[in-house]
Amino acid sequence: MAGPLRVGVLASGTGTNLQALLDSVHGAEALVVAVASDRADAVALTRARDAGVPTAVFAIGEHPDRPARDGAIADWLESHDVELVVLAGYMALLTSPLLRRFPERVINIHPSLLPAFPGIRAIEQALAYGVKVFGVTVHFVDDDGGVDTGPVLVQRAVELPGAATPDEVMEHLRPIEHALLPQAVRLVARGAVSRDPANPRRIVIRPD
Ligand code: GRF
Repeated sequence: MAGPLRVGVLASGTGTNLQALLDSVHGAEALVVAVASDRADAVALTRARDAGVPTAVFAIGEHPDRPARDGAIADWLESHDVELVVLAGYMALLTSPLLRRFPERVINIHPSLLPAFPGIRAIEQALAYGVKVFGVTVHFVDDDGGVDTGPVLVQRAVELPGAATPDEVMEHLRPIEHALLPQAVRLVARGAVSRDPANPRRIVIRPD
């Protein structure tokens, strides 16, 4: 499809990562054309509406099960001609009826240096382990049945040897997240991202 990359965002929470996209790549290399949530009260939806982006809510109670819900989300995203799906704090696990419709076109942002500390409460997990280096990962979400297991697209680390609380770590990770997610979308938008045929886990990024 010609023109800016058409991005759909799924978010469950405050949506600061969505906001970072709206404030940076939106209207430039990419267009955020649809924002959906599993929660009607997600602040992310307000941010989308304020930016004039169509929104929808897919509450689990309104669908027979998760795969049925995910099929409905996929229908909605496709109806907006979404080319890349960005999970920006989307707290539900996605299932095949969505993922197989967007092969190699779903990315997620996670507040750890994967493969360390996948799943929920990543920062708490890292603190409990006692690591000194924290970080953020943007990775592809493949239809592999795993949680935060897809190929790494971009990653950035920060040394925080004295960090003791999740809030303290989050304060350092937030700016990283808000730079890294737009960077990832930009890379996809300019067609710079491919998979190494010899090792499809290895994402190759073509330099500028
Ligand atoms: C971020 O920390 C992201 O890494 C994680 O969920 C959080 C979402 O924050 N997946 P926000 O809703 O974008 O503010």
